[in-house]
Amino acid sequence: GRGRADGARGLRFTPVPPNVNDRVTVPAGYAQNVVIRWGDPILRGAPAFNAEKQTAKAQAGQFGYNNDFLSLLPLPGERRRQVLVANHEYTDEMLMFRKYDPENPTREQVEIAWAAHGLSVVVVQEDRLTGSLTPVNRHHLNRRLTATSLFEVTGPAAGSPLLRTSADRTGVRVRGTLNNCAGGTTPWGTTLHGEENFNQYFANGASETDRRYGIAAGPSERKWERFDRRFDAALEPNESHRHGWVVELDPYDPDFIPRKRTALGRFKHEAAQPRLTDDGRPVVYMGDDERFDYFYKFVSSKRMKKGTSRAAREHNRTLLDEGTLYVAKLSGDSPEAVDGSGRLPDDGEFDGSGVWIPLATGDVSHVPGMTADEVYVFTRIAGDKVGATKMDRPEDVEPSPRTGRVYVALTNNTDRGKPGKPGADEANPRNLNKHGQILELAENWDDPAGDGFAWRLFLVAGDPKDPSTYFAGFPKEKVSPISCPDNVAFDPYGNLWISTDGNKLGSHDGLFGVAVHGERRGELKQFLTVPTGAETCGPVIQERRVLVAVQHPGEVDGASVEKPASSWPDGPGKLVRPAVVAVWRRDGREIGV
Ligand code: FEO
Ligand code: CA
Ligand code: CA
Ligand code: CA
Repeated sequence: GRGRADGARGLRFTPVPPNVNDRVTVPAGYAQNVVIRWGDPILRGAPAFNAEKQTAKAQAGQFGYNNDFLSLLPLPGERRRQVLVANHEYTDEMLMFRKYDPENPTREQVEIAWAAHGLSVVVVQEDRLTGSLTPVNRHHLNRRLTATSLFEVTGPAAGSPLLRTSADRTGVRVRGTLNNCAGGTTPWGTTLHGEENFNQYFANGASETDRRYGIAAGPSERKWERFDRRFDAALEPNESHRHGWVVELDPYDPDFIPRKRTALGRFKHEAAQPRLTDDGRPVVYMGDDERFDYFYKFVSSKRMKKGTSRAAREHNRTLLDEGTLYVAKLSGDSPEAVDGSGRLPDDGEFDGSGVWIPLATGDVSHVPGMTADEVYVFTRIAGDKVGATKMDRPEDVEPSPRTGRVYVALTNNTDRGKPGKPGADEANPRNLNKHGQILELAENWDDPAGDGFAWRLFLVAGDPKDPSTYFAGFPKEKVSPISCPDNVAFDPYGNLWISTDGNKLGSHDGLFGVAVHGERRGELKQFLTVPTGAETCGPVIQERRVLVAVQHPGEVDGASVEKPASSWPDGPGKLVRPAVVAVWRRDGREIGV
């Protein structure tokens, strides 16, 4: 029942019950601080945040909007400091500007939004006695990359005619990164950032490929095309091809021009998380977050070099440019038993096997009728042609550092089984799926470079009282309700942590921990909840600290600066501000032991 502080090692805390508190609610005995929020200055010369006098120039030196993915990296040589890397997925102008007319944004408002997108690198300082973190302003590693910063395109499709525009005849130099959702941290000390719903920034899409990627035929939501012609697909049809990639950043090198890795394909990249083969080659798992879209992996042909020498770093920066891109096709072992209700098949599990279908290797296409360039730039169409499995919105993915098993959050798919849409299958077993599921994938022979795998559903989310839910067989009266899993991460003990986006059970989104092996496998416990309108992102689970990104607090239909739905984090009368929160144990001990 409630109030238990027992559990698997790392998960011994009293679960936070479902609630609608307009704050971050943590377990008894835990404390928190706001580490950094939208508008906090991080670069030299950047002013303090002033909501009434915000400028694009100020924003370009301040922490961006809507923090999503977080990575927290060591900073050797500087005591009690770490490097925080954050994605800034998108802007919500109604909550940023007191006077905002969605039909007539001003140039200054648009340029502020450009500067509030992108990535932040900011060094953070640990308190000596608690788990709190504070930003170190003006540290030489601090950095902002925005919708107008320079990015380089690398890999097999770099320079392709499909990537050339009137502003860049080379097809290798792109301005900006957009809609960076989740990401990953590589074993060679760089970070990966998924460019997700880039389609929303472009207007007047006309081609078949524009349609497959969801680029609207009319004006864009933010009307950026009025201020920069590259956002008008009728004038610059290739500009959108330069977005929708995985970006790699070296946060330790402030001069590094981040790279868009074409070998990893172009789609609505949610996240990208590598693991290494036994011989040291990275394999990157990736989801395309759209209803009925696909799950992918990239297998590099190059081995990682160990160490942090300049030569090793230069080499490792090329690992994601050569290899093979695959898409997943899954088969269930009880297809006749799947009726769309979520009822477990007679063998007691939603499970089966799968194959990795190769799409392209370097300049060689494996897809009939498509060139390699076309496979990389229009990867979704390659997946369509080879018959990949249409999934329930593949979001974040994380290989277990202990077992190598890969966990894929499938957040929901309310179109599953609707007229004219694909119906349930064993990996996506519920029609009108509101709550989502988590799939566990084991590569054959535990070889991440292999071409086949076994899979099973680890968790079918929802209210545990709902018979269509499943918690790896753990007794359902002992678990927390969960809906819409989005981001996943592992703690130092091998437990999986899951954050949610869009809870359909009437309470706020939050963060959960669950054991994935041992007797307590499936015992899911809620660790925190976030304020009104927010989703929970970017979890980082360290031994003595949990870090979450509170994204889009106050984002409720009809809300605005004048009519706010939330007063987090600065209190009534202040703008709501997306922010990063650190949580630690008051007694100074490890999280959940
Ligand atoms: Fe940006 Fe798929 O969440
Ligand atoms: Ca089965
Ligand atoms: Ca997400
Ligand atoms: Ca999401």
